[in-house]
Amino acid sequence: MEEREVQPEVNIGVVGHVDHGKTTLVQALTGVWTARHSEELKRGMTIKLGYADGDIYKCTNCPEPDAYSPEPKCPRCPKGSEPVLQRRVSYVDAPGHEVLMATMLSGSSLVDGALLVIAANEPCPQPQTKEHFMALDIIGIRKLVVVQNKIDVVSKDQAMKNYQQIRKFLEGTWAEDAVVVPVSALHKANIDALLEAIQEEIPTPPRDLDSPPLMWIARSFDVNRPGTPPEKLVGGVVGGSLMRGKLRVGDKIEIRPGYAVRSGNKVEYVPLESEVVSLRFGNVEVEEAKPGGLVAVGTRLDPSVTKADALVGSVLGRPGELPPVYDQLTLEYHLLDRVVGFRGGEMKMAPLRRGEVLMMTIGTNITIGMVVDLKKDEMTVKLQRPAVAWKGARVAFSRRIQGRWRLAGWGVVKN
Ligand code: GTP
Ligand code: MG
Ligand code: MG
Repeated sequence: MEEREVQPEVNIGVVGHVDHGKTTLVQALTGVWTARHSEELKRGMTIKLGYADGDIYKCTNCPEPDAYSPEPKCPRCPKGSEPVLQRRVSYVDAPGHEVLMATMLSGSSLVDGALLVIAANEPCPQPQTKEHFMALDIIGIRKLVVVQNKIDVVSKDQAMKNYQQIRKFLEGTWAEDAVVVPVSALHKANIDALLEAIQEEIPTPPRDLDSPPLMWIARSFDVNRPGTPPEKLVGGVVGGSLMRGKLRVGDKIEIRPGYAVRSGNKVEYVPLESEVVSLRFGNVEVEEAKPGGLVAVGTRLDPSVTKADALVGSVLGRPGELPPVYDQLTLEYHLLDRVVGFRGGEMKMAPLRRGEVLMMTIGTNITIGMVVDLKKDEMTVKLQRPAVAWKGARVAFSRRIQGRWRLAGWGVVKN
């Protein structure tokens, strides 16, 4: 297979309220069940960001939307049809549980568009339907397909009623004209129409391939099985999505802020330097990676520094070419009018206070921060964990309201 066919070219977030069927939908689109951790399997919920690659094929004989399929064979066609690969997509599966909002936000910083999954058998909107929808707006994701899921468990009347609720929910927003595709993720029903909508509504954005590579790290692993003899150990692996530039096997890399070293109460971050020894999309090894898709980068790092997501939130690039690391960010900020995301409605958002503690999401970096200076539209936040950032970067923040971190607003970095 040619390399351009191997690397996914677009990243699509799968978001929405808990249990509305995001992971099941990703499976219908890719054949992959993204939940891998015992805790996730036991509790039937997504906890960490999941990701899986899926194809969009189009049969040359069939009309639309029948022609679309995630597989290179056309289920409707007489023998001999040869569906053509349209695109390879990386789906980023977000957790729907309300306490995992920051994880959802960090995942959204990797994607070019989103599927908002809404279950047809519950009134719409549910709390995280609202909160995730607002988060897309905040992060600046404007390419959206709404997926009305679980249509297999509702009557036609109920489905229609739920559809009206969805339209009402979108009315007057940036997504007023969004396409709503009814599906059953469980029974893989109407997936062809969803693929057609994805093709039409979520184009692959132009990519900057000329700048030095820059990647947010979304996952990091020690891939060695326990008990592997030292001479067989392979180096640490980090996964993420390139924002710009290209990465090749053999490239020298730097990771910042890097590895946390604790001594007493103090935590220091040590930048890491290494080399790319392998690049992988799904199960396929490549020599070169570009933006689009989630790539696993094999390095020569000691796997103990990459294990258990230790490097999530750091940035990878070429040595000496990364943006600066900041302990403090000055943001031009915008507060949402209302607090959403909890049962029992909405409430007015109170103004920020100096000294208030916020949860900041800067790319995949999730950290606590304290408001140390506050003006009308500008605040300075001291970060508990330093972050790589740059002028103009968009940051989301949450506040502790009624016992939980709730999406509160966004800012643009001025440092
Ligand atoms: P979180 O990760 O916890 O936010 O949930 P999720 O949105 O990923 O939902 P998940 O895919 O885990 O599905 C939740 C439950 O709904 C599971 O029991 C699924 O089998 C079921 N489910 C998902 N899609 C469908 C569907 O189309 N029809 C029916 N009947 N059940 C579905
Ligand atoms: Mg669930
Ligand atoms: Mg899930």
